[in-house]
Amino acid sequence: MRSFYRGRRLRSSKALRDMVRETRLGREDLIQPYFVVESDPDFRKPIASMPGQFQLGLSQLMAEVGEAVHAGLQSLILFGIPVQKDPAGSQAYADAGIVQRAIRQIKGRWPELIVVADTCLCEYTSHGHCGLVSPVGEVQNDPTLELLARTAVAQAQAGADIIAPSDMMDGRVAAIRQALDGAGFLNTPIMSYAVKYASAFYGPFRDAAESAPKFGDRKTYQMDPGNGREGLREAAADVAEGADILMVKPGLPYLDIIRQVRDRFDLPVAAYQVSGEYSQIKAAAMNGWIDETAVAMESLLALKRAGADLILSYFTNDLLKAGHL
Ligand code: PBG
Repeated sequence: MRSFYRGRRLRSSKALRDMVRETRLGREDLIQPYFVVESDPDFRKPIASMPGQFQLGLSQLMAEVGEAVHAGLQSLILFGIPVQKDPAGSQAYADAGIVQRAIRQIKGRWPELIVVADTCLCEYTSHGHCGLVSPVGEVQNDPTLELLARTAVAQAQAGADIIAPSDMMDGRVAAIRQALDGAGFLNTPIMSYAVKYASAFYGPFRDAAESAPKFGDRKTYQMDPGNGREGLREAAADVAEGADILMVKPGLPYLDIIRQVRDRFDLPVAAYQVSGEYSQIKAAAMNGWIDETAVAMESLLALKRAGADLILSYFTNDLLKAGHL
């Protein structure tokens, strides 16, 4: 009899395969993004480049979140679309800004739901950049920090459970931590978009959030896709500044970065399966070329296997409602 490794022994039945599975996906791992529109509570518009996702007014959002909570949703992240944009993005930190109002309503109705607030200015600035812009068109780092800190405090005051800065200004985690602590929010964690690339995979999101830059691009603040080691420096900086969770974004094209961040740091790691990743799967599935659910589940599992503890994904609600989580 020949002797060789019989890997098939542990694959012979579903029960056995389930028993030896190394990586599992659960509802507690996933965070569903929502786009909330200020203009009209009953606003509801499908996002053309993200089939199945909508821009929602406040009452529509409450109805959608209600259904999702019923299906088992544990956590969501909010992006706001204000009526008025200005150069300083003032609706991001206004007490009555749309995200602050949405957080208050959601937490009022579902106190146990974990509400993450994306902390950035790009949806609120008239120029679409994530920070203040100088007269010559440069995105200014240090003057932006105070506005991000104000935004984080406004979100925490509204009841946000986690503050998630996505702007990629240097020093923003320290600025936000200091402001949160100063306002008494010592226990509000920061999930920093620590390793965020200047990615073409964000294309559909910018339609959804109406946040595309009016001039230039985000390459002076978001990272070059060719750089892995630099991502570790970004992560180390955010750890030193007080981040509680480190995010890598996008997800699937950056599995190597997720793995390295997981191995190098002991904080929880989050991965963002971004809009372009979602839209690719949707488009291929709508053409009948791939099985949407199977590919979505496999992609999410891959993110976890690479080392992500948490995943932000537009598939969350669909998978919950279909009983896959
Ligand atoms: C805001 C922000 C972006 C995303 C999350 N927060 C867009 C960007 O940086 O241009 C992208 C999310 C996605 O593509 O799903 N700064």
